[in-house]
Amino acid sequence: MPIIAANFKTNHTRASTAKYVSLLSKYLKTNSTTEVYVFPPLTALDQYETLANFTLGVQNAYPAKNGSFTGEIGTEQLDEFNIKTILIGHSERRHILKETQESIAQKFHYFKTLNYKIIYCIGEPLEVKNEGLDKTLEYLWAQLEGIDTNYENLILAYEPVWAIGTGVTATLEEIQSIHTAIKKVIGKPLLYGGSVNLGNVEKICALPNVDGALIGTASWIAEDFIKIIENTKEL
Ligand code: PGA
Repeated sequence: MPIIAANFKTNHTRASTAKYVSLLSKYLKTNSTTEVYVFPPLTALDQYETLANFTLGVQNAYPAKNGSFTGEIGTEQLDEFNIKTILIGHSERRHILKETQESIAQKFHYFKTLNYKIIYCIGEPLEVKNEGLDKTLEYLWAQLEGIDTNYENLILAYEPVWAIGTGVTATLEEIQSIHTAIKKVIGKPLLYGGSVNLGNVEKICALPNVDGALIGTASWIAEDFIKIIENTKEL
């Protein structure tokens, strides 16, 4: 049974997220035991109905309970909605928001201390991929610096930067070779992300060493996301 996660990024409103979650919950109640995660924008956090196979998480938060961190939210705000799941290390935060490995590791440590479920993302840019497998793995290991890969509530996501939001998915061979190399070293659930969609999700999730998918663009329409869960539930 795969783990399937939806990353809304800066899409959806509070109202549209509520509709999305209600459709999804209705489906999950009767149809699936797939472990499903949804990461909406922070303004859409709410007290949604609790289901064993559905978890609402955040795309980011500041590693503090509260304080003077203008523009950020801390765990006091997350507690209001019983949020205990966070994405850390996403390439858009690394590259666009300029988060460093050091600040990412600090964030990881903070949320680990509070026992959050952490979906931790790693992935190489195109110029690194073009240098070959060894260089790619070297780059990925560096993105794990300061990260406790034995943490019990850790899910890893391999998301090559060149495949995110581009419509260019890694080939099955590429995914398999990276996933196998990571799994040799880290025995944690490992998701693939990067232009996963209804057309390719089954093949990707069926690969050995792929435990599920972290999906951006193709997850934003609830009906499509539900089909993705439906099509992978037997894997
Ligand atoms: P994508 O995004 O599915 O739109 O490529 C994946 C992600 O960034 O998590």
